[in-house]
Amino acid sequence: MNFKTIDDIDVTSKRVFLRVDFNVPLTKTAPYTITDDTRIKAALPTIEALRKRGARIILASHLGRPKGGPAPEFSLAPVCQRLEELLGATIEFASDCVGDEAMQKAMALKDGEILLLENLRFHKEEEANDPEFSKQLASLAEVYVDDAFGAAHRAHASIEGITHYLNVKAAGYLMKKELDYLGAAVTNPRRPFIAIIGGAKISGKIDVINNLLQKADAVLIGGGMAYTFYKAEGLEIGKSLCEDDKLGVAKDIILQAMVKGGATGRSPLQLPTDTVIADAFTNDANKKTVSVKEILPDWMGMDIGPDTISMFDNLILNAQTIVWNGPMGVFEMPNFAEGTMAIARAMAEASGRGATTIVGGGDSVAAVEQSGLADKMSHISTGGGASLEFLEGKTLPGVKALSI
Ligand code: 3PG
Repeated sequence: MNFKTIDDIDVTSKRVFLRVDFNVPLTKTAPYTITDDTRIKAALPTIEALRKRGARIILASHLGRPKGGPAPEFSLAPVCQRLEELLGATIEFASDCVGDEAMQKAMALKDGEILLLENLRFHKEEEANDPEFSKQLASLAEVYVDDAFGAAHRAHASIEGITHYLNVKAAGYLMKKELDYLGAAVTNPRRPFIAIIGGAKISGKIDVINNLLQKADAVLIGGGMAYTFYKAEGLEIGKSLCEDDKLGVAKDIILQAMVKGGATGRSPLQLPTDTVIADAFTNDANKKTVSVKEILPDWMGMDIGPDTISMFDNLILNAQTIVWNGPMGVFEMPNFAEGTMAIARAMAEASGRGATTIVGGGDSVAAVEQSGLADKMSHISTGGGASLEFLEGKTLPGVKALSI
């Protein structure tokens, strides 16, 4: 898809509506403070570049999923404060994203100044992609820039609707970087191309597994979802996680992968061969490593085992492109984190050998942060749902809206 970036447009002395994804986690109780500012930092290159070029920046974002109007626990005010610290500049704040205050503050901006609008989702029209609301947002600015890759899978007013009312539109640097990395992986990967898919449930990942089975040289499965595959193969899985209503889907995926393997007889779908099981869902439960054919009736699978780790390591270290989404086990419990940490280590080593390593999805990003190896990855996506939908092969509404 063809789109302009901020380098291709004139922004000097222009009011630029900059859609960002400042959907950051806040503490549950007042005073609401930011517990992870990664997404704010990720937008800084675009903000800095626009400032340097004399743009008058109007920042807009959603935060959380407020229902029924303004609520302090979803306010972007803490983001304003953090942004001021990060930029070392004063930032104006408008207590509503549309209306007189927003308009006056937008019009009063001078070159290089910044205004942050309050949470877009305080108006239900944002998620409804309401044309009138889109028009009101557009009326604040002359130019539209989208740097909110994390929200690009949402056809909302500030992402899709607004682009019908502003002629000049472009992607920010973060949006471009995400699309470059993820796009190259799914359209033109350096091979071997390996996808590692984990997480608790198969249900949210069926489309991504199916799409990647067609594109990748191998799809490595770990995490809770693996047990639904085992059950579909007729194995005993004890009390392990299982989505019984997805057994048919799991069977289909296994079959499809065998078809893809064709005459070679080598299915690109790689399921774990051994697993760490526990007699309770706690960190200090009794644990054993067993073959996946020997899971005990009252026990549950909590992590991939050492044989699987070495099989996966081998595939990762021989790959040129690796995409990882979803942990291999219950990595929040230290006794069951080894599989996930081993993947992080292998990915880091693969990066060192010149491979492109991409991590997407909330839990795997948290795991990579926990491993201390985040800076060794080629790219860590800021989009959970967005990166997943991209890897499913879908056209994201936010990307389509930027196309020229
Ligand atoms: C995210 O956190 O994945 C994005 O900010 C989108 O948020 P949403 O799922 O609430 O639309």
